[in-house]
Amino acid sequence: MQGGLQSGTVLGGVTVGETLGSGGFGVTYVAHDTKRGRKYALKEYFPYDFAARGPDGTVSSRPDCEMQFDLGLKSFVTEAMTLRDLPDQEGLVKVRAAFEKFGTAYCLMEYIEGDPVDRMVPRMLKRYGHIPEEIIRQFTVSIASALAALHDNKLIHRDVKPGNVMIRRDGQPILIDFGAARSLKTRKASVSMFTRRYAAIEQFPLEMTNAQTAMREGPWSDLFALSVMLYEMATGTLPPDALTRLQAMQADSCDPFVPAREVLAERGGGPGYSAGLLTLIDTGCSLLPQDRPGDAAAYLALMGETLVGGQGRGRARAHFGVAERLRDLGEVLVNSGTAMSRLGAGSAGAAGGQASALMGAIKGGGAWTRIRDFLRGHGALAMVGLIVLLALVVVALGLAGWI
Ligand SMILES: Nc1ncnc2c1ncn2[C@@H]1O[C@H](COP(=O)(O)OP(=O)(O)O)[C@@H](O)[C@H]1O
Ligand SMILES: [Mg+2]
Repeated sequence: MQGGLQSGTVLGGVTVGETLGSGGFGVTYVAHDTKRGRKYALKEYFPYDFAARGPDGTVSSRPDCEMQFDLGLKSFVTEAMTLRDLPDQEGLVKVRAAFEKFGTAYCLMEYIEGDPVDRMVPRMLKRYGHIPEEIIRQFTVSIASALAALHDNKLIHRDVKPGNVMIRRDGQPILIDFGAARSLKTRKASVSMFTRRYAAIEQFPLEMTNAQTAMREGPWSDLFALSVMLYEMATGTLPPDALTRLQAMQADSCDPFVPAREVLAERGGGPGYSAGLLTLIDTGCSLLPQDRPGDAAAYLALMGETLVGGQGRGRARAHFGVAERLRDLGEVLVNSGTAMSRLGAGSAGAAGGQASALMGAIKGGGAWTRIRDFLRGHGALAMVGLIVLLALVVVALGLAGWI
């Protein structure tokens, strides 16, 4: 990694550890508060094209890039402070502190033990063939609610994509990476950055779209990106990017976007997603901003859901990890050597990286809560498992001459 902070550097009360990632806007490190035994993610403002680092770790702008560097720095600090001051919100990473040091700025966040969606979804699709509607629904409610919390505070994320949503070990999806975030109060982003496959048409520079006037970015832009993510989860494929769609329409008035509803219908109906979910995905993927819902509440209403987890909102149970938990529970039973091993292997599949978390929980104090939640969510399956287990225990006791 070119020019990252040295591991062991102390700043803002934490010690910098390994680098988690470095994108166009900054570098993310693991950081530890050794006194309190806490782990954090520390994001450093380091716009790759405009910044350079001196031998002592100090960051400065590259020659002739002072204006872009400074504008970006200012908005990084402002947005990090806004995020720090937000009330806790389900689905949104908690920012603990924002500070300036070494000529640049830092944002200290809670550390999320888990995997980003771009690693998780292909694994789930490979393992289960499709992602159950319940999981997509809960995922959508959580992320749309997290976006609503940003939008309510006049921020737009601008880089919603699978790599920027982590699935925490308990199954809760968490939106991260505010590197591209922008205040709706400022007229223009200091640095324009987006991920083409997920970006709404209004995020593309005017010179690329050949449009007469710029289309305004807003909550509807983040909802477009979320919808593309959901399209990918539901169909396993990505639609053509917004610019390709616009150019095709400019050439022959025909949008090459195939609605998720049609993609799945062509495959014989697919996993049978509800009309509400498919309407939300396809409407959210509308090319033009005016054809999309204007805010997250209107968006969720398309599938009969409401916002959760913020001030004055209800709380929802996170279900994104349902399938993973099912697999993990099977593994726990296999590994503990009970007579459930055949059921575990048959219904839940092979070993994977997530198993240890749930195993730890089951061994520890949270075991009953986990089992209770699992039974609530999977009554029929769990009941069959328990009956099989009981029958085997009775047989074993009988063989041992106890009964
Ligand atoms: N709060 C966090 N907790 C755990 N890991 C994180 C956290 N924030 C970021 N990461 C990890 O660091 C990677 C890069 O962080 P991100 O903020 O997305 O920056 P960028 O995409 O600009 O490199 C993420 O893909 C994720 O794996
Ligand atoms: Mg990222």
